[in-house]
Amino acid sequence: MELPLHHAIFAMSFCFSIIIGSCDIVSVKENSISSPFSDNFLFGTASSSYQFEGAYLTDGKGLNNWDVFTHKPGTTMDGTNGDIAVDHYHRYEEDVDLMEFIGVNSYRFSLSWARILPKGRYGKVNKAGIDYYNLLIDALVNRGIEPFVTLTHYDIPQELEDRYESWLSPEIQEDFRYYADVCFKYFGDRVKYWVTFNEPNVAIIRGYRTGLHPPARCSGLFGNCSKGDSEREPFIAAANLISSHAAAVDVYRTKYQKNQGGKIGIVLNAIWFEPFSNSSEDKLAAERAQSFYMNWFLDPIILGRYPAEMEEILGPDLPPFSRYDVENKLKRGLDFIGVNHYTSMFVKDCIFSACEAGLGSSRTEGFAFISGQMDGVSIGEPTVLDWLHVHPQGMEKIVTYIKDRYNNIPMFITENGLGTNENSFPTTEDIFNDADRVEYLSGYLDSLASAIRKGADVRGYFVWSLLDNFEWIQGYTIRFGLHHVDYTTLSRTRRLSAFWYKNFIAQHKASAGIRPGPGYTQER
Ligand code: GAL
Repeated sequence: MELPLHHAIFAMSFCFSIIIGSCDIVSVKENSISSPFSDNFLFGTASSSYQFEGAYLTDGKGLNNWDVFTHKPGTTMDGTNGDIAVDHYHRYEEDVDLMEFIGVNSYRFSLSWARILPKGRYGKVNKAGIDYYNLLIDALVNRGIEPFVTLTHYDIPQELEDRYESWLSPEIQEDFRYYADVCFKYFGDRVKYWVTFNEPNVAIIRGYRTGLHPPARCSGLFGNCSKGDSEREPFIAAANLISSHAAAVDVYRTKYQKNQGGKIGIVLNAIWFEPFSNSSEDKLAAERAQSFYMNWFLDPIILGRYPAEMEEILGPDLPPFSRYDVENKLKRGLDFIGVNHYTSMFVKDCIFSACEAGLGSSRTEGFAFISGQMDGVSIGEPTVLDWLHVHPQGMEKIVTYIKDRYNNIPMFITENGLGTNENSFPTTEDIFNDADRVEYLSGYLDSLASAIRKGADVRGYFVWSLLDNFEWIQGYTIRFGLHHVDYTTLSRTRRLSAFWYKNFIAQHKASAGIRPGPGYTQER
């Protein structure tokens, strides 16, 4: 008999919510569920250098944009920074143990550019930085955990900001090309999955439109910054970033890929945009919202041009790509798309209807008003984060949308997870019994399974995150971890969701007939 996936998940969650000692609900031999996930599907957890590593001045690391930004008063909600973060730099072995216990076969992490090249291409390679990543990569590979490596997850050497204003200058293409080359050279023998950028759409929008992230540039109603131009600079910065991606892919393809045999892609933040009404105006607005958010980056890289809606509305204000770049570097400039999906949003048209100034309604945002709640209706259960509404159906919809638009290029769900906060005096039950996270993850995975059954080529899924960590401008107030981190002692403790994920993976492996690896013990 074939059990629907969500029933199995419910059975597992239920078991976990009532156990304290041990739980042997996953009988590997007796399992009867046929998994929609392929045999070599990557199940992993995700992290990033600035949010995890700490050691911000250790062993020759240079300052990066986030070090400098968070040291300015008023930039993060709780006044904290990533100086120590969760000290992954010193505790990576313990963290790999945690992964092994869960049974993941991949770990997504990012390299700190300033740890490897403290001064960008204007200085030397920092040997201690290379040594650290070699140790981490080896620790993973030795346990059968595939490293899935992001070159840049928001953090760049401050040197590049100080010298030429980073993404605003085409010079950064040369720096990024150089950095990528160094990484492929030192780590490419063991790293088979490379990501050039994490969420350039978020980095550019927050860095140059709303000014909430470094380099904190914006203008007018978009935010409160001392410099910047919210209507112009995001497009310049994005064009330089897209060309930098293409430069790194070019180096990989021409110099390394044949021998090293890996794959290279990019990760975008992907929101499912749901038209608020059935009107054709709102439907077109939802398309525009997607074009001005995700397709802005993916279309040039995959199709060699900006989305039609952007061309139509912005015309000559969009920085063009050279014919040479389009023909030689941009078209089919990746092997896979990384999808970070957490939430869905409603969209209302602002061309034919009047919209208040705010999220999305301006010309440079595509005249589409975007919000998780409209006219008192919420797209999904609200969470402690104003941008995160629980809407599991959005996973199937966004994956299917990407599949259809980009001819089913392989995808990885590179992030998905739920952020929570702790009240001032949490009980042990509050801290560890994260049933809300289990419910969120199982709902989204169920929806992903449905997209795969209908033909989407998705090859991996990573929970954000392995541990609680530094959540950007929210500091340590928001927790995304399968493991709780005590920020005084830095000790890590498994949450219910870690046990649940372990069994979810075991269930999949059992149905796929894969023998459990060394991490597969059944004890709690
Ligand atoms: C993503 C980002 C991660 C993490 C996560 C949770 O957008 O890539 O670094 O912060 O959101 O908010």
